[in-house]
Amino acid sequence: TILVVDFGSQVTQLIARRVREAGVYSEIAPYSKAEEAFERLQPKGIILSGGPDSVTNADAPGIPQSFLTAGIPVFGICYGQQVMADQLGGKVENADMGEFGRAFIEVKKDCALFHGLWQTGERHQVWMSHGDKVDHLPDGFEVVAHSDNAPFAAVADEKRKFYGVQFHPEVVHTPDGGKLIANFARHICAIQEEWTMAEFRAQKIAEIREQVGGRKVICGLSGGVDSSVAAVLIHEAIGEQLTCVFVDHGLLRAGEAEQVVSLFRGHYDMPLVHVEAEERFLAGLAGVTDPEKKRKFIGATFIDVFDEEAERIGGADFLAQGTLYPDVIESVSFTGGPSVTIKSHHNVGGLPERMKMDLVEPLRELFKDEVRALGRELGLPEPFVGRHPFPGPGLAIRIPGEVTKEACDTLRKADAIYLDEIRKAGLYDAIWQAFAVLLPVRTVGVMGDHRTYDRVCGLRAVTSTDGMTADVYPFSAEFLSNVATRIVNEVKGINRVVYDYTSKPPGTIEWE
Ligand code: XMP
Repeated sequence: TILVVDFGSQVTQLIARRVREAGVYSEIAPYSKAEEAFERLQPKGIILSGGPDSVTNADAPGIPQSFLTAGIPVFGICYGQQVMADQLGGKVENADMGEFGRAFIEVKKDCALFHGLWQTGERHQVWMSHGDKVDHLPDGFEVVAHSDNAPFAAVADEKRKFYGVQFHPEVVHTPDGGKLIANFARHICAIQEEWTMAEFRAQKIAEIREQVGGRKVICGLSGGVDSSVAAVLIHEAIGEQLTCVFVDHGLLRAGEAEQVVSLFRGHYDMPLVHVEAEERFLAGLAGVTDPEKKRKFIGATFIDVFDEEAERIGGADFLAQGTLYPDVIESVSFTGGPSVTIKSHHNVGGLPERMKMDLVEPLRELFKDEVRALGRELGLPEPFVGRHPFPGPGLAIRIPGEVTKEACDTLRKADAIYLDEIRKAGLYDAIWQAFAVLLPVRTVGVMGDHRTYDRVCGLRAVTSTDGMTADVYPFSAEFLSNVATRIVNEVKGINRVVYDYTSKPPGTIEWE
């Protein structure tokens, strides 16, 4: 086990993730609980995260001094490097200028951290983000890599197995960073055991049983990967104590509701309440054209319906959610100030407060691709596991203007053709999200000597790693014209197709 001590960095979870990728088990503990975690875990190594504090402040957080005399390897990252240097008798100062972004370091000496990876004299790209810097090294340390602005970019005391880096090896902008962390876990801490998703599954099941005991859990299923994986995992842990509620707002893609019902009732034989609420949602959306009003109405109605169903089944003690780590960070504003609402995202946010239930969130530490791996481990069918993300408000935010049943049906047909062609071309997995939108604009066309006056369909496809930024997927012109022809020929009510060439930012992925 590696203990990751968290000093409040935005990317601490990425450190844990990199350790997991190296096949080694790790646990994160906030610095205030590090001592207790150390006792419990008896780790073979410790990683100290970055953080917003400055060790030059008297009350800055640190680690128990005993961690540094325990005879186990310690790896300090950014603030963690400064903490280590400070507690071992070195000196840390406010840098005149902070350093943020891409930087190049030069390797000065062989170091166990660089084992099989970096050679003396080589230059490598890293990602820096810090204000303070180590100014004077503790006894026993030497510099193993430096840059123009960072004379102590990487330091080591090989005898005591203490390592520190000023840059962030956990982020993707440090291309070899994952390997440095793997070197620490495997080579320096000499951890042999393989940690796998199978063990994560077993561990989470034990945790869920412990948390829930004999009580009841209710879970909102959306048909997406996250809630599906959470539901299957929880069902494996507590069986019939779990009831899933699938609020079908009628704004789903073609065939989706049927797939959810047959997977959970049929394949998994799980208690599933399928609430068919299309009429209620469409009635409330009549005449609504403002995107925020649509989102708010759908979010509020979703909660009402869910609440009613929960009461009908006699209530529950816990609410299960497929919250992922990126949802956790997005909801904690890390700029320090209130951030501007671009869109009011709707998952089941608001439900926990309203229902006064405790949460079961077994996926909180994971990233999307890890959830997919867990889904595969749990035997979820591949089309479910690999499915593109789909927004809570569904097709309503893909129909600018008023949402009607007719518009939804038209859009479902166009969307199904588009996705069918993407699958046939073998492109589905290379794309983060692809979907059609139906515009309220009518344009003139000609079909078989007849004038048409129908709606415009927009096509969107993007690549992304987390949905926060996105690039346009570069289809071939032939592919796009083939899709356009099929949609105009096969879908009544659409006579023109356009492709959206906007990246995010400045665009967003969804149109509303
Ligand atoms: P935007 O449009 O903000 O979308 O660039 C980023 C990602 O979030 C999804 N999205 C939502 N997901 N509830 C959700 O669960 C929502 O209200 C919502 N709005 C957007 C969007 O599909 C993309 O993956």
